[in-house]
Amino acid sequence: MADIQKIVILDFGGQYNQLIARRVREYNVYCEIKPYTTPIEEIKAMNPVGMIFTGGPGSVYEEDAPHYTSEIFELGVPILGICYGCQLMADALGGKVTPAQDDSAREYGKTDTFFNTDCKLFKGLPAESVTWMSHGDYMAKVPDGFELVAHTDACPNVAICDAERGFYGVQFHPEVTHSQYGREMLRNFLYEVCHCKGDWQKDSFIDTTVKALREQIGDKKVILALSGGVDSSVAAGLLSRAIGKQLTCVFVDHGLMRKDEGDFVEHTFTTLFDMNFVRLNCGDRFMAALAGVVDPEEKRKIIGREFYSAFWGEIRRQAGENTYFAQGTIYPDRIESGKGKTNGKAATAVIKTHHNMVKMPDDIKFLGTIEPLADLFKDEVRTVGEKLGIPKELVWRQPFPGPGLGVRIIGDITPDKVKVLQEADWVLRDEMTKNGYEKQLSQFFCVLPCVSTVGVMGDHRTYDHLIAIRAVTTDDFMTADWARIPYDILSKVSGRITNEVEHVNRVVYDITSKPPATVEWE
Ligand code: XMP
Repeated sequence: MADIQKIVILDFGGQYNQLIARRVREYNVYCEIKPYTTPIEEIKAMNPVGMIFTGGPGSVYEEDAPHYTSEIFELGVPILGICYGCQLMADALGGKVTPAQDDSAREYGKTDTFFNTDCKLFKGLPAESVTWMSHGDYMAKVPDGFELVAHTDACPNVAICDAERGFYGVQFHPEVTHSQYGREMLRNFLYEVCHCKGDWQKDSFIDTTVKALREQIGDKKVILALSGGVDSSVAAGLLSRAIGKQLTCVFVDHGLMRKDEGDFVEHTFTTLFDMNFVRLNCGDRFMAALAGVVDPEEKRKIIGREFYSAFWGEIRRQAGENTYFAQGTIYPDRIESGKGKTNGKAATAVIKTHHNMVKMPDDIKFLGTIEPLADLFKDEVRTVGEKLGIPKELVWRQPFPGPGLGVRIIGDITPDKVKVLQEADWVLRDEMTKNGYEKQLSQFFCVLPCVSTVGVMGDHRTYDHLIAIRAVTTDDFMTADWARIPYDILSKVSGRITNEVEHVNRVVYDITSKPPATVEWE
């Protein structure tokens, strides 16, 4: 990627940093998020055409607040400071930042803002619009050489610029949708200030990556862990295009997939793509290991352990001396895995153990690891997937937990229960696809709480399963709201489930947000 123009986003711990990166890429400009601990030599070596300093929870005047060497201002590279990033720039260049003295200068939420449209950042935009503020500090003194280019009724210095050096700072967050013309301001920074060419295109991504993969892999083999999720499917599609039968995909079907899902994954990759496809049908083995186990964490551990041993057992059989290992790691995985975390104060309490990273046993030696999607965000991965011809059902697949239906059957798991849940879940999905409401939901599924209730069918009393429907809307799955599905849709789904699925006589709808609940029931 040496010849593609880059923007470096220096991460000071703000909550919207990934959003900044996505916005930049939406304008076809490549960018990388780097923690503020990245040595300046590394930044120089990246040869960025511009830099963005992110927001952050700190206050620049606090001793332990994140700082960066002032050499960064000597590189001759334009900088946009956002919120904390703006204050940091002001502080480093001779200005003064203090806590806001009175409540009016401390701004949160949507705020009417007035702009000097002669400033390149606001070029071509209305002189007045709404911005999203979230700052308790105040630039009491603006550094020499800077002019004030935006204000609100409460605050005279909402944006600063030193056009000569290409330094711009805004107190608000242009990256969030609540800032009316925020995207356009970022675009102006990229194109008016940094003179970007817009040479990061997803079309060329496929060609460039396929070429690079062929060069790297040569005549060697590659083994890929295929889960049937979006990321590993797209990685498989790319590798298949690059090296065809030199690729072997290993797909572990633990028997806890949704109805017909394993067959669909197999069909897709054996008919649409050129590769060796190995499906391990391990349903019996997982079921035996899970028999009688009730505790949710214990179930997750067993599923994780069985998966690990089934998967690596097969890999040991497949992998020769000259083999690479591939996986569908995407950019947020890399950032969230801690490598890019800034002030990474991870939560101490384990709510649930997610088994997403494929840990490698020590005794298997590969030529190296290949992660063709490691620089992409999820929506970019989906675009690439569609361009590769991967079916929409896979490319737009909702998140599905690694332990599958194992965390949607409360208490012990049996093949009969799995069947009831698969059938009910299939009806729900079918109905939501038919009425098109699925597009409004982030995730939806059925849960089998393993509670029997009394019902009546014809003249007979029944004592059968209760099915719960869970549907949420969310941006990031850290918090989620229960979806307000219209009653007539719920009514249709309930009618169909009780009619079409044997051993279900009652359907309930989960109306709890996260927190206090989680998305999954276990
Ligand atoms: P929770 O239940 O933690 O779910 O609110 C948040 C999101 O994560 C998914 N999830 C998992 N994904 N392995 C995964 O790969 C897991 O063990 C797991 N548990 C929950 C869940 O479906 C939701 O999208």
